[in-house]
Amino acid sequence: MESIGTLAGGIAHDFNSILSAIIGFAELARDEAPKGSEQEENLAEVFAAGNRAKDLVKQILAFARKSDETMTPVRFGNVIEDVLKLLRPSTPSTIEVVSEINCNSPVMGNSSQLHQVVLNLCTNAIHSMHEKGGTLQLTLHDVILKDKPVRLDNTQITDHYIELKITDNGPGIDAAVVENIFEPYFTTKAVGEGAGMGLAMVKGIIETYGGDVSVISTARETIFTVHLPVAATRVSNTYNEQTIAKGGTERLLVVDDEAALARMTARMLEGLGYRVTVQTNSLEALEVFKGSPDQFDLVITDMTMPSLTGDGLATQMRLIRPGIPVIICTGYSRTMDEAEALELGINALAYKPVSKVDFAKTIRDVLESA
Ligand SMILES: Nc1ncnc2c1ncn2[C@@H]1O[C@H](COP(=O)(O)OP(=O)(O)O)[C@@H](O)[C@H]1O
Ligand SMILES: [Mg+2]
Repeated sequence: MESIGTLAGGIAHDFNSILSAIIGFAELARDEAPKGSEQEENLAEVFAAGNRAKDLVKQILAFARKSDETMTPVRFGNVIEDVLKLLRPSTPSTIEVVSEINCNSPVMGNSSQLHQVVLNLCTNAIHSMHEKGGTLQLTLHDVILKDKPVRLDNTQITDHYIELKITDNGPGIDAAVVENIFEPYFTTKAVGEGAGMGLAMVKGIIETYGGDVSVISTARETIFTVHLPVAATRVSNTYNEQTIAKGGTERLLVVDDEAALARMTARMLEGLGYRVTVQTNSLEALEVFKGSPDQFDLVITDMTMPSLTGDGLATQMRLIRPGIPVIICTGYSRTMDEAEALELGINALAYKPVSKVDFAKTIRDVLESA
């Protein structure tokens, strides 16, 4: 993914060469213009404006370089541990720091930006307790936010988030201003103590990553809650080999118009113990299903098929047997919007090529939650 920083940097570079040409030719034309003429004066203005623009570009370039925004999967628990280590020496002894990290999930982001998020929330919390002391409490765990599926990239969406809660027992945020605290330059601190940019930056970063931040504050405690989508990490092959695919004995209907692929899937699933029926024509598959809808526990269907596509098939089957679990397999070329799939009530989307371990897990998850 291209970050804003690199993007700005790239544009600034291009712009710089264009400006060099403008400045160069303006200078040339100015020198050739009759001395003291209006033409010479106008070209001198172009030359000067060009130089001012060049200074601005230089600033943008410096900024882009500084804000290295490389995105990588980052274990959020590690970020918290690092920040707490950093804060420990400067935290007054009247403030107890308690952390409860119950998740190992990675989020997609820039680690220094993620550090800044946690650091800012913690310094605010510590600041609020600097007079009376108290407890700074951080908890981190995994949550599923069913109503918040977020697109991770072009191929995947997730409702799996990490949830960070930062709690302090400071005097809280005045109800009259709680709406404003995320605004840039909003601060209740003395001049020189706070610039009011902390929470604005926190919100900006979190929202860029598809998450959200919210606050609940009373006179006894203040809780900031951060949600960030868990990164979809592809399991490496070596890891796959070490992981045991869990099977079952349920009855599966596999529908794929590519006969070879359908056979391969069937063999793989039979190897896991399932009883598999294969159909290579979606209309026929629907007929088979209509004949005895209760003979299957799960339908696994390809998306792109002639006559009746996977989502259409799923909809038809659902009319016959509303609760039938359906997994749709789809290639990377998008033919279906994932949000749409969720709306249709598709239990899971599997992306081709599906690895045995991942597929086995998806199937178990769907069967067990059905
Ligand atoms: N944990 C907290 N307890 C009480 N007030 C808070 C807390 N966190 C933020 N605030 C309020 O939000 C304001 C804005 O915070 P922030 O954007 O970080 O800027 P700054 O810390 O520079 O004031 C703070 O001035 C303070 O009034
Ligand atoms: Mg702050």
